[in-house]
Amino acid sequence: MPTYSEKVMDHFMKPRNVGEIENPDGMGEVGNPVCGDMMTFYIKVKDNRLADIKFKTFGCGAAIAVSSMVSEMAQGKTLEEAMAITNDSVAAELGGLPKNKMHCSNLGADALHNAIEDYKSKKDSLKKETSDAKRG
Ligand code: FES
Repeated sequence: MPTYSEKVMDHFMKPRNVGEIENPDGMGEVGNPVCGDMMTFYIKVKDNRLADIKFKTFGCGAAIAVSSMVSEMAQGKTLEEAMAITNDSVAAELGGLPKNKMHCSNLGADALHNAIEDYKSKKDSLKKETSDAKRG
């Protein structure tokens, strides 16, 4: 039985920012091929900052703690700062994860980064549409 740090237990028992954002600016989904667990992040962006973050995780306790920690670390950060969050830094912030649970941390930052990429690509296509409309 792996032992978890107090922080992992705290975020697992009382996960922060669980849920879904209606009409999110970006959404990122990642699946863990090792165990089949899934994590989805929803973001709202204001002035290049993450104004709101919510997540839904179908996974183990470590994956839930990781999602919760990622959502806290990224809250209010600029998109660039949030992109700099790594799976390793999340695991470190949680006080470490047991070795056989390190793969669970791989979902967290990736799902958030995917949500930011989704936001950026939507924004780019909107920009393109607007400029096409202006041109047309
Ligand atoms: S066992 Fe699936 S994410 Fe942890």
